[in-house]
Amino acid sequence: MARLLIVHHTPSPAVRQLLEAAVAGARVPELADVDVQAEPALSATASDVLAADAILMITPANIGYMSGALKHFFDTIYYPCMDATRGMPWGLVVHGNDDTAGAVSSVTKLAGALTWRQVVQVVSVVGQPDSATLDTVRDVGATVCAAAVRT
Ligand SMILES: Cc1cc2nc3c(=O)[nH]c(=O)nc-3n(C[C@H](O)[C@H](O)[C@H](O)COP(=O)(O)O)c2cc1C
Repeated sequence: MARLLIVHHTPSPAVRQLLEAAVAGARVPELADVDVQAEPALSATASDVLAADAILMITPANIGYMSGALKHFFDTIYYPCMDATRGMPWGLVVHGNDDTAGAVSSVTKLAGALTWRQVVQVVSVVGQPDSATLDTVRDVGATVCAAAVRT
């Protein structure tokens, strides 16, 4: 069974809403044959990544960078996963209060170093997510999930 891994750091209700939208998008009936694993960034392991066929990351922007939790995830999995996960489809949702650019570029750089394959445009959300934003995040969840099947 194909597997989507959603690695997230969700410190607030706004980010939790984004996670829930992404999970809902990945769990549409058309993708029922994909196992969806949502894992906090502080507990996700290299084994989780090696067992995945696609990865969606959800993080707040913190001090012009990805969250420390997502950075910890990359520090944990980088070398163990480097060779085995080339071409891994990935997507990213970032939440911030004013400027998410550094978070987006830092994740993009690390995913690029791992030679993962971006399959959907990064979604940056500033402030409270509205219903259109949640729809977009649902689509991102579905798109990355579908990429798990095509791998
Ligand atoms: C230590 C810290 C640093 C932060 N740095 C940024 C930042 O660089 N850019 C930004 O847009 N938001 C920043 N934020 C805001 C968080 O991204 C935001 O609190 C998080 O996404 C949760 O959203 P909420 O507080 O609106 O619920 C920071 C928050 C904290 C606690």
